[in-house]
Amino acid sequence: MTVAYRDPAADGVAVQPPSSGVGDTVADLALDIAAIRADFPILERTVRDGKPLIYLDSGATSQRPVGVIDAEQEYVTTSNAAVHRGAHQLSEEATDAFESARSRIAAFVGVTNPDELIFTKNATESINLVAYAFGNASFVPDTSSGRRFALGVGDEILVTEMEHHANLVPWQELCRRTGATLRWIPVGADFRLDLTDLDTLINDRTRVVAFTHQSNVLGTVNPVRRLVDAAHAVGALVVLDACQSVPHMPVDFYSLGVDFAAFSGHKMLGPSGIGCLYGRFELLSAMPPFITGGSMIEQVFIDHATYALPPARFEAGVPMTSQAVGLGAAADYLSHLGMDAVADWEHRLTALALQELSAVDGVRIIGPADTTDRGGAVSFVVDGVHAHDVGQILDDSGIAVRVGHHCAWPLHRTFGVQATVRASFAVYNTPDEVHALVAAVREAQRFFGTGS
Ligand SMILES: Cc1ncc(COP(=O)(O)O)c(C=O)c1O
Repeated sequence: MTVAYRDPAADGVAVQPPSSGVGDTVADLALDIAAIRADFPILERTVRDGKPLIYLDSGATSQRPVGVIDAEQEYVTTSNAAVHRGAHQLSEEATDAFESARSRIAAFVGVTNPDELIFTKNATESINLVAYAFGNASFVPDTSSGRRFALGVGDEILVTEMEHHANLVPWQELCRRTGATLRWIPVGADFRLDLTDLDTLINDRTRVVAFTHQSNVLGTVNPVRRLVDAAHAVGALVVLDACQSVPHMPVDFYSLGVDFAAFSGHKMLGPSGIGCLYGRFELLSAMPPFITGGSMIEQVFIDHATYALPPARFEAGVPMTSQAVGLGAAADYLSHLGMDAVADWEHRLTALALQELSAVDGVRIIGPADTTDRGGAVSFVVDGVHAHDVGQILDDSGIAVRVGHHCAWPLHRTFGVQATVRASFAVYNTPDEVHALVAAVREAQRFFGTGS
């Protein structure tokens, strides 16, 4: 890996100190952004007739450094085998690579017991795993430890109005199947959770509180500890959607006190096709399985089976092994950079984007206007121009952003917008790319006759 500390003279990265006070000069940067960019081969390509790619869609999926690509290739070319099965050398090597990745990824999110980290297909599957396990709890014998997760009429599940569909629809479905009631914390005009009625929203009937750490639309970072304490005070379990936090800031699930947390590999510089679920071991070992079959069993008879301890209980079938190896390398890469430094850099880019976009007449930011408790998902509307049209003009300039409702339709309804444009940053983005974004937004206004 070529990550190095920055040489300000060499990288050519110019940061205009934002007025929001997030940083004074480039001299205090801990990262060599030019060296980091060189680790991402895709950033060298051009799009749309030779325009340099400006990738501002890392909230949807991030790009991969060579270290991640190489780790997967090395595994596939030297050790590929089914893990936890054969007695041969390749199978042993594959198992070691897989379990080593699990330990390193767990450590990356502050989890010292790797058995508390389950590999899934993506964060969506991680959340469904919990919801389905709770659903299955209604069908285990009364004497089974899993029974404690069974929900029914009178129970409540609390979400928030800013959830991604991945942390909303599975809970809607669980309520539909069990008769439990879904409730939600509203989002205020300041784009933050309105906790005025928290004491009534979290009550003796609340069994699960599921919410996002950072909104993928607003960028709002939620007060995890406050919600965890309120949930635990009534015996409810907390499920954290950490998709938009784990790749961008230091995250420690033990310190946050959450019971479960989900995140995706492909949003944290890792491969697609892999996600993670953290769960407290005591809970995971009492929960019934989600998907059943090979590898997740303890003993099998012709008419019944008993189940292995976690994580195996929740990893039926041959797992996504090269993806786990790649994700292990992504966690190493981010750890090597240092998540404080990553967060600091993205914070500066966000401040710059907020400052420059809010200076454009006719552009409204849908999210907090300053960087306090806020991450780098910057969504906005351009008055008089549909988000898809803005996206097309940006694309013509080589700028990749997300447009639409970003799988958060209820939130868009709350703010009365059909669709927004979202620029989302990762550690490899630069201030020049932010300037280019803003220039292209002005161009879109000119093209559609709404700007000056
Ligand atoms: C906040 C949040 N939660 C969940 C997801 C779902 O992630 P995945 O598609 O990897 O399952 C996303 C993806 O955009 C997200 O931003």
